[in-house]
Amino acid sequence: MTHDLAVIGSGPGGYVCAIRAAQLGMDVAVVEKEPTFGGTCLNIGCIPSKALLHTSELFEAAGHHFAGFGIGVDTPKLDLDAMLGHKDKTVEASVAGVEYLFKKNKITAYRGVGSLAGPGQVTVTADDGATQSVEAKHIVIATGSDSTPLPGVEIDERRVVTSTGALTLGKVPDHLVVVGAGVIGLELGSVWRRLGAEVTVVEFLDRILPGMDDEVAKQSQRLFAKQGMTFRLGHKVAAVDGSGDRLDVAVEPAAGGDAEHLAADVVLVAIGRRPYTEGLGLDAVGIATDERGRIPVDRHYRTSADNMFAIGDVIAGPMLAHKAEDEGVAVAEIAAGELGHVNYDAIPAVVYTMPEIASVGRTEQELKDAGIAYRAGKFPFSANGRARAMGTKDGFVKILADAATDRVLGAHIVGPVAGEMIQELAVLIEFAGAAEDLARVSHAHPTLSEAIREAAFAAWNKPIHL
Ligand code: FAD
Ligand code: NAI
Repeated sequence: MTHDLAVIGSGPGGYVCAIRAAQLGMDVAVVEKEPTFGGTCLNIGCIPSKALLHTSELFEAAGHHFAGFGIGVDTPKLDLDAMLGHKDKTVEASVAGVEYLFKKNKITAYRGVGSLAGPGQVTVTADDGATQSVEAKHIVIATGSDSTPLPGVEIDERRVVTSTGALTLGKVPDHLVVVGAGVIGLELGSVWRRLGAEVTVVEFLDRILPGMDDEVAKQSQRLFAKQGMTFRLGHKVAAVDGSGDRLDVAVEPAAGGDAEHLAADVVLVAIGRRPYTEGLGLDAVGIATDERGRIPVDRHYRTSADNMFAIGDVIAGPMLAHKAEDEGVAVAEIAAGELGHVNYDAIPAVVYTMPEIASVGRTEQELKDAGIAYRAGKFPFSANGRARAMGTKDGFVKILADAATDRVLGAHIVGPVAGEMIQELAVLIEFAGAAEDLARVSHAHPTLSEAIREAAFAAWNKPIHL
């Protein structure tokens, strides 16, 4: 079969690239090794985790917050099977949506492991070993990532789990030990804590959420600790012994020293993800990966092999679904002879805990390191009427503007629905807007978004309500 463009992998990078290429008039093929489309994000990542974050948040609200609003309910009972059932149905609807879009756009799907067989050639090997040869003018590698293993700790996805196992635990663990205070550890740790688990987070560094703004990380850690999470910063898990009824987790100071032992029911290993290129046959086309296993690309996503592109988690940059999608659109447009482009300064990142943590653009540390003079405007949700009405006063908005030009360079929000609110700042940064521009835009009252306007006022001049 000969196509204009063949994508290997149907995650957010691959499936969006395929759809966009088909919209631009190309004959498109997708190769996927799993039984359903949608990749990590739809099957075992973004979507199922957000389903559990939402339902566990409601469970916690019913048990702990309703009374404060004058709503009396009996102690809510957890039906974990039903909660997991809602998550599974959400995933099914999402992956079915991708299948529908493939049909609608007349995209040819091949089931099996795709390996690069030479210029313009992919061999697809199905589960039963049958092979098929697919030819295409352009090939896009969108094979994503998988969990980074912790040396010496064996994953069984039952008691010692990655995020995949943590999305399907059959019962709430009495004690969950999370290794890694990154996005997965905090999101899935929050889910199981809300459902009744004691949660201890062991983090190698002396802070949580590396890469996020320091002040944001500090305040978030305080809020998570208040909610009942225990943090062991500057520590690492050296071993997990599963020979007894409970897991024996050896925790050591990162700098070395005596181990202490924690008894746990489940250990979640969430120490990052690594690019996935197994079985892809990169050697056959002369592509060498970098020191972190990523496929090097130029600014048009071209690999070292002719007419082969790579996008998403398998290349450098933040491992985020929307970043992969943006690159998918850009590559489809480049392959069609258009000018595809991604602005990496305007890609938001969101941690979907309660409160949510959202950021776009530069952190204060990055601006200091780059020697850029900036003004920081901050506004707390405790001074926002809507947040008070909702009983969600924790957190703040911080806007960082260039001291000379007032152009907004970064924005950080800890607060309710921060993941939705960050979008207006992404648009502002995309359009090179200034703090004054934002401060002069009318914001409906009473909304949480008024805190963003106030932070913009604070960065440019003075906040009104503080
Ligand atoms: P993937 O989604 O990993 O897709 C790659 C696809 O390629 C897979 O379907 C795989 O089976 C297939 N494949 C691999 N090799 C081959 C081969 N040789 N042949 C055929 N098929 C192959 N990001 C966010 O932005 N927001 C979130 O809320 C979020 N939550 C997450 C929660 C969890 C628990 C996890 C694990 C991740 C989360 N992410 C989130 C990250 C997000 O899932 C990834 O950034 C995103 O899926 C990357 O997309 P991708 O297309 O590059 O790769
Ligand atoms: P992460 O990179 O966010 O965090 C990993 C954490 O583990 C870091 O704090 C790191 O210092 C720590 N660590 C590393 N080795 C350790 C060790 N041996 N012992 C203790 N701590 C150790 O990675 P995570 O949470 O696994 O997530 C992977 C990726 O998935 C994220 O980078 C993110 O891009 C994506 N993701 C995005 C989500 C979102 O957008 N809401 C949700 C979940 C995942």
